[in-house]
Amino acid sequence: MPRKTKAPRTIEFPSGEKIRILIPSARIQKRIPELAKKIRADFPNEPLHLVGVLKGAVFFLSDLARHIPGEVSFDMIAVSSYGKGSHTSGQVRLTRDLDSSIEGKTIIVVEDILDTGLTLRYLLDIFQQRKPKQMRVAVLLDKPERRIAPVQADYVGFTIPNEFVVGFGLDYAERYRNLPDVGVLTLNDHSVGPRK
Ligand code: IMP
Repeated sequence: MPRKTKAPRTIEFPSGEKIRILIPSARIQKRIPELAKKIRADFPNEPLHLVGVLKGAVFFLSDLARHIPGEVSFDMIAVSSYGKGSHTSGQVRLTRDLDSSIEGKTIIVVEDILDTGLTLRYLLDIFQQRKPKQMRVAVLLDKPERRIAPVQADYVGFTIPNEFVVGFGLDYAERYRNLPDVGVLTLNDHSVGPRK
């Protein structure tokens, strides 16, 4: 018997917006422990300091932190790079700094998505000046087609096509962060992006 391929699940909202599920929560929950294991295997005896980028990385960081065995601490930083919708301004600004110094620490920068790379490039340059012992980057999603800045992640959950996604921390105008899956957003029959 040929295997049936399931059509991707689509969620419709009263606003007319639709989300086509790209990565179901079960796959995310399977992948995060794999990344955590790899990170610990790369640094078997090091205390690790996770640096999450608010707000998109909140769920990824909290799941990742709980799956890395041994000594783990974390801190959060916030930047603003995108406006309210899905268009990038291209400019990155620090809106909340870390609580504590990263000097001499092994830090893992935790980001929701690596898109143009402008945000991460900006942050990595700042962090480098603060003299961490070692620095690595973990992202849940990578959209390599969109890259402008020279940056790549050491740990990638999923590589995705150039589509505007929401869920598992990612938002559209602050909405849909709470969706447990990652999906492609369509606004009243127009997909969002690609972004300029
Ligand atoms: P970059 O500076 O272009 O790499 O973008 C980084 C930030 O843009 C991410 O941390 C997200 O907040 C936001 N972003 C990029 N792509 C998407 C997307 O597809 N959906 C939601 N937010 C996105």
